Amino acid sequence: MQPDERNTIDRGLTTAAPLVTLRNVSKLFGGVHALDDVSFELRRGDVVGLVGDNGAGKSTLVKILSGVFGPSSGEILIEGERETLTPPARAQRHGIETVYQDLALVSSFTVAENFFVGRERSWGRGPKLFQIMNRRSMTSTAASALESLNISIPHLKNRPVERMSGGQRQMAAIARGAFWGERLLLLDEPTAALGVRESREVLELVSQLSQRGLTMLMVTHNLEHLWSVCNRVIVMRRGRKVADLMSSETTMDEVVAYITGAKGPETLSSE
Ligand SMILES: Nc1ncnc2c1ncn2[C@@H]1O[C@H](COP(=O)(O)OP(=O)(O)O)[C@@H](O)[C@H]1O
Ligand SMILES: [Mg+2]
Repeated sequence: MQPDERNTIDRGLTTAAPLVTLRNVSKLFGGVHALDDVSFELRRGDVVGLVGDNGAGKSTLVKILSGVFGPSSGEILIEGERETLTPPARAQRHGIETVYQDLALVSSFTVAENFFVGRERSWGRGPKLFQIMNRRSMTSTAASALESLNISIPHLKNRPVERMSGGQRQMAAIARGAFWGERLLLLDEPTAALGVRESREVLELVSQLSQRGLTMLMVTHNLEHLWSVCNRVIVMRRGRKVADLMSSETTMDEVVAYITGAKGPETLSSE
């Protein structure tokens, strides 16, 4: 950030700055407006459900916040300061973690090892990671993080995650995200690959994390899931934010109307 930008921002701050601010963020892929002038703020402790039809821009938004893509235009502020989040390691250094629907853990590693994958910079470099790290301290750190969340995963020290259930893996991925993500945990369809019982366990974990004050943004297709954990809902349609509502002040029917375009900015229906 340039000093003059910082002055501008500081002058604008009258109250505690939101955790994350998106200001007029657009993302173009070739001619496709994956995100079109999206603005919103995430305040500490918000648990926001992000919904919208296929192709609405939800994953692109998550990837902008997780540092996979930079915006084509617009800006991102972290606690009032303009920041670049790319590449993902940089977003992580800002305390932003992401859990994807496809259970992105390394299959051949144990849960304990997975807790530290991608953290090579904090611990040394590359393939030497597990030689450098004290194996016992790694395992006990992962174990106590899981324990503090009341997650019990048998054999976390010696069973590769490929031999665990999808639900257990997703819980481990979320626990890892909560462990490293001091500011924001992004969840892109965390229950999409799971059955009913496993989804319920994952949602219980999300709501437990929310009670601890963790700020989360969760993409979901399932409005029941959204309502069970989120205090706020943002609806995307064709790259644009068409609604931003407190869940207590809206209904699933109204959210569906925004998703389908039955309700929302007039310009969208004429496109
Ligand atoms: N890496 C990419 N390259 C080109 N187009 C992309 C890329 N990622 C997303 N898109 C396009 O951007 C739009 C929004 O996609 P996405 O954010 O994945 O939507 P959602 O997650 O809501 O289904 C879609 O039209 C999609 O085809
Ligand atoms: Mg998506």
